[in-house]
Amino acid sequence: MIKKHFEFSYWYRVTHWIRAFAILALTLTGFYIAVPFFSPVPNPDPTNFMYALMRFWHIVFGFLLIAVVVGKVYVFLFDPLSKIERDSVKDAYSLQVWIKQLRYYLLIDKHPHTKGIYNPLQFMAYFGVYVSLFIICLTGLILHMHVYHEGIGGFVYGFLRPIEVWVGGLGMVRDIHHITMWFFIVFLPVHIYLAVFNSVHGQTGAMDTIISGYKWDKDHDKEEH
Ligand code: HEM
Repeated sequence: MIKKHFEFSYWYRVTHWIRAFAILALTLTGFYIAVPFFSPVPNPDPTNFMYALMRFWHIVFGFLLIAVVVGKVYVFLFDPLSKIERDSVKDAYSLQVWIKQLRYYLLIDKHPHTKGIYNPLQFMAYFGVYVSLFIICLTGLILHMHVYHEGIGGFVYGFLRPIEVWVGGLGMVRDIHHITMWFFIVFLPVHIYLAVFNSVHGQTGAMDTIISGYKWDKDHDKEEH
């Protein structure tokens, strides 16, 4: 019997899509900041501030990303509807679930029963995403405070300057910021492939869940998404 059940809360889905679009915008504007890949149509008036415009949008999406990351961490830790996410920590410590999950990906076994909504591989990948988000937001703030000395830039300067010195200075901060971007560039296609893989093999509406919040289960067998 197919049963519909509620899986992802409203804030889970909203933060997911804001994060996705912000990372996309930050990658495009970030690449432009690193290597301006097109130049504006020249005109005699001093109005061609394409680079400044890209940096402006980069910082707007940068602070949006910081806000949505802080929001999602809060929802993960304190929202009762996120208990099913927190329960995934237990599965990440189970070797048995790891082995069964890898056999499932090799198409030689059924999906393991999991206590939480994420299987161990998925949980570790998302944990990696949040470590990378923390690194790129921190380095982004350090880059920001050296351009904008008032407001938030001025406020974080005292806290973040020691970290800048500790990692080897501003040049190293920029490199770490740039290199961390590649984690997202590699993660995204893998994430989309696995979402489609589970939608096709799991047949529980995994792709729809991140929009509607609902999932369809044959026997409440916890399928990943
Ligand atoms: C997924 C998120 C992000 C990606 C992919 C990203 C990517 C990049 C890249 C590729 C650069 C150019 C680095 C270079 O010159 O080689 C850059 C510069 C910069 N980023 Fe980000 N970034 C992200 C998030 C942030 C955040 C959260 C902030 C914080 C406000 C931020 C602030 C900055 C600043 C201030 C610069 C330097 C701009 C300048 O040259 O003056 N970034 N970013």
